[in-house]
Amino acid sequence: MKRTLVICKPDAVERGLSGEIISRLERKGLKLVAAELRSLTRETAEAHYAEHKGKAFYEDLLAFITRSPVFALVVEGPEDTWQIVRSMMGATNPANAVPGSIRGDLATDTGENLVHGSDSAEAAEREISIFFPDLA
Ligand code: RTP
Ligand code: MG
Repeated sequence: MKRTLVICKPDAVERGLSGEIISRLERKGLKLVAAELRSLTRETAEAHYAEHKGKAFYEDLLAFITRSPVFALVVEGPEDTWQIVRSMMGATNPANAVPGSIRGDLATDTGENLVHGSDSAEAAEREISIFFPDLA
């Protein structure tokens, strides 16, 4: 899958780090295909994070992702672009994220880990259609 969804989460926009994140993706060589600053409704957040419904952190995750605007992006690269973005993001828990990764360099909290990236080709397709249906 050449395209993948990236979200600069509310903490990234609040901290003024969306430019830093986008800059890293661009410097890597990924191309911006779509980008929009928007507030997520609960419905959109539920659709996006459907895989986590019922988990202990689900309600906190929905409250977090809807608390202020996100910067949603579609980026394009070679095959398996989602894998490139995932490696640039670093581990979910910033304590485990290696230095040089976005979370490893810029975050400390699992709940406020700055960035989302699709975690498979199928997820990329599904998530792009939620956020940017005209691209699907
Ligand atoms: P994301 O979907 O946001 O890109 O993050 P991810 O793939 O690295 O992690 P995922 O397992 O999909 O979890 C989604 C978000 O939920 C929060 N989380 N908290 N307390 C916990 O154990 C826990 N586990 C996950 C994180 O904010 C994570 O990014
Ligand atoms: Mg995930």
